[in-house]
Amino acid sequence: MSSAGALYRPFDRLLKIEIAGRIFEVPENNSLLRALQYLAPEDVAMGRFCWNEDCQYCRVTYDLGEGTPSRTALACKVGAHEGMRIRELSLELRYCLRSLQLADPAK
Ligand code: FES
Repeated sequence: MSSAGALYRPFDRLLKIEIAGRIFEVPENNSLLRALQYLAPEDVAMGRFCWNEDCQYCRVTYDLGEGTPSRTALACKVGAHEGMRIRELSLELRYCLRSLQLADPAK
């Protein structure tokens, strides 16, 4: 089991999630926002996130795989799930994940 410091809830394995068509591995047992922080620790820590459902800066649109409905949620509230496919990210999230060089959603 890894705790990766106090930042993440303890996890035994990494989940595969898709962001803008690319696959990333993030720790299980964590909120999606915390999971995204795993991919860009410093930039997400510097983001303007309240982490408690107030600011709305962490909004994402996602589904759970082929044929599942598209949902909009707050990344600080929803858990990261295996196979999650994130289709849209808020501007703040996109900025904080800029090091991942995600595809431009406008293209
Ligand atoms: S981080 Fe503020 S609503 Fe999610």
